[in-house]
Amino acid sequence: MIPQAFIQDLIERVDIVELIDGYVALKKRGINFWACCPFHNEKTPSFSVSANKNLYHCFGCGAHGNSVSFLMEHQGMSFVEAIHHLASHVGIEVPSEKNKTNNNNSDTKKNVQNALLRASKYYQSELKKSPRAINFLKSRGLTGAVAKKFNLGFAPQKSQALREIFQDYHSEALQQAGLVIRTEDNKIYDRFRDRVIFPIHNANGIIVGFGGRVIGDGMPKYLNSPDTIIFSKGNELYGLHHSKDAIRKIGKIIVVEGYMDVVALAQFDINCAVATLGTSISEYQIRKLLQRTDHVIFAFDGDDAGRKAADRAMEVMLPVIKDGKFIFFSFFPSGDDPDSFIRKRNQKLFWEHIAEAIPLSDFLMSHYVKDNDLSSDEAKAKYVRDIKELILRVKAPNFSLFLKKRLATVVDLELQDLGFTISKREIKSELKKDRIRPIGVPRVVNSLLDLLCNDLRLGSEIEISESVVYDGVIPKVISKDEWKLFNELVQLSGGVKTKIDLMEKYRGTGLEELVYSSLSRGFGIDFLTDKEKVLEFKGAWKQLLRQFKQAKINFLLEKADLSDADKRDLIDLQRKKL
Ligand code: CTP
Ligand code: MN
Repeated sequence: MIPQAFIQDLIERVDIVELIDGYVALKKRGINFWACCPFHNEKTPSFSVSANKNLYHCFGCGAHGNSVSFLMEHQGMSFVEAIHHLASHVGIEVPSEKNKTNNNNSDTKKNVQNALLRASKYYQSELKKSPRAINFLKSRGLTGAVAKKFNLGFAPQKSQALREIFQDYHSEALQQAGLVIRTEDNKIYDRFRDRVIFPIHNANGIIVGFGGRVIGDGMPKYLNSPDTIIFSKGNELYGLHHSKDAIRKIGKIIVVEGYMDVVALAQFDINCAVATLGTSISEYQIRKLLQRTDHVIFAFDGDDAGRKAADRAMEVMLPVIKDGKFIFFSFFPSGDDPDSFIRKRNQKLFWEHIAEAIPLSDFLMSHYVKDNDLSSDEAKAKYVRDIKELILRVKAPNFSLFLKKRLATVVDLELQDLGFTISKREIKSELKKDRIRPIGVPRVVNSLLDLLCNDLRLGSEIEISESVVYDGVIPKVISKDEWKLFNELVQLSGGVKTKIDLMEKYRGTGLEELVYSSLSRGFGIDFLTDKEKVLEFKGAWKQLLRQFKQAKINFLLEKADLSDADKRDLIDLQRKKL
């Protein structure tokens, strides 16, 4: 049995819009997202997904449910499979029956939260009593106001200081909260001793853990709460709760490496910074950031560790980014982090430095270039092999295309030579999104327009009135513009002498592009003899009429109730030879 509380929590964590968008292309309209329903056949969207309610609902067929039921119904997964799929999607583990000791019920959660809140208040009051801790924070340039904003505190140097506020010091809750440690011989003592305390709030402002820094030098520099039923380092971002308003206002998030960096930036009135908790950034954290803003700047220390962290962050984010997101990498001079940088300089210079950050695309493309100057074919071959692997992880369709094009340019090859294969599923979902026809199927109307644009005399070879009977269904076969241009060109026959005249005639009109593309596609036509051109043109016209006829037949067959006139039309159409 998977604990019910875990399932509830999991469903809350999954971004249902993003999940379903991976299977069905969703479009935002109003507050909800819409698509043609994947559970029944329809032409106009009545399938809606609500991010707020965390549910989907089809107004056509009544299908509805949450992310779990979606995977079960759409992907045919079993309940357990769906839960495991979602858990790995957000990067958490499904508790099995065996480790049920960390029993996930909401009472325990509440107890842990309360314990942490009480402890935090205690640590804050202890800070006021410790000149040593206060001096340390002052030496780091912090004022009391900023320390208060982040609820900074101090854990005194006593092994059981928390006894002062917890009569139930030996209770399970304090251990579950990670506030105390039980030794092998069953002694209990405070986890945080003689440390400055940085409470870690979740996005809702609830304290879920602490980071404790030694005063001055000492090892380890930071001691953090262990992961608990309400705290997982890969899920939280330090400072997110405090930066919400600023993020909304500025539209940007700066991701830094340390608690100190977040607090120091706030001291300089830069309130849109968050930090990971000493772990490399997770996919889940990146999703969380991108839900809040389109513009994320990763600010890394200028040392080797900073570079490595940037590489890891880049690799993790590739599958998650979407077209429309802007991600940058900023590196500080060697030996500096955002905290020391801004203290040595000022807010203005900090923003100037951030403004020079490297866009993700540049950072990615330069990834394997460092010790590889791309001057030999060998170097290029290696580069293509390695960088392709990264580019293939990008799922954002447009961004991925630009990276591929850029790679082709950099190594001086054609895009098609690079062997990026696109899966059928990708093509299908792209086609669905933009309602375009499969490429490679030549369209009759193209042949007609190409021939006609390149030789306007051809217009007199056909009877355009033959199409009158199909009037209503013509837009089902070719676009309104195509039909309009075709008609005009047929009327024109002979009236315009040269291709230049033709281009002039349509310059600046809505049909200009069609004329241009027809002229450029019809390049080979000049090599046909006049007789061949006429044959081609008449043949294409017949084919187009046949398509019109089929469209009309289909149209009539789809009608719910056929009138007698309709039936006669159908019989006539089916008899008509073309
Ligand atoms: N960290 C940690 N445990 C350590 C060292 C670091 O959890 N032993 C995490 C902390 O979240 C810390 C971050 O890694 O904030 C970055 O480390 P560092 O740059 O060393 O710390 P700063 O926050 O910059 O602190 P300070 O400037 O005081 O050195
Ligand atoms: Mn630092």
